[in-house]
Amino acid sequence: MLQFVAAMTRLVESGPADEARLLGGATPLMKALVAHDDWLPEAMAVPHPQYYQQHLLYGDPLDRFSLVSFVWGPGQKTPVHDHTVWGIIGMLRGSECGQAYVRGGDGAVTPHGPEVTLMPGDLDKVSPTLGDIHVVRNAFDDRVSISIHLYGGNIGRIQRHVFVPATGEVKDFVSGYSNALSPNLWAKAAA
Ligand code: FE2
Repeated sequence: MLQFVAAMTRLVESGPADEARLLGGATPLMKALVAHDDWLPEAMAVPHPQYYQQHLLYGDPLDRFSLVSFVWGPGQKTPVHDHTVWGIIGMLRGSECGQAYVRGGDGAVTPHGPEVTLMPGDLDKVSPTLGDIHVVRNAFDDRVSISIHLYGGNIGRIQRHVFVPATGEVKDFVSGYSNALSPNLWAKAAA
């Protein structure tokens, strides 16, 4: 993971914060990161009986990227949500299913395309230009799954949205992080 963080830091420093440039540069780094499931610390792989967990693995001090372990308990699922920044999801352990959504001009949020299943080593991408709204769930009802998420910002602090397709309601939310850092440098605006 140290090699990954070093390479990502070099990438963000080597040119403009252009989504296509960063996604292109980060994709092989993420592919390599999830090619082997032998590095995630046990504390970053702990599920919660009720809520899927988002453990911050690394937050760039200039908020240019963040790396999170997303730990799914059996049967756990996100609401329909967006990110507002680019993101790469890499499957590390188990399996998850993602369903893309699109928001029409009338504000209605509807499924778009088939549900996609990620197996260990597989990547998926989200961004405001590629498609930013989805639902993700653990593919399993009887075991934990873990994916590693890289985002083009401090995802725990970014204000984004949850959508309720049935009613068209849009709610602001900030995900935060499941692990409490002390001091939690990444949970609030730079002081
Ligand atoms: Fe997501």
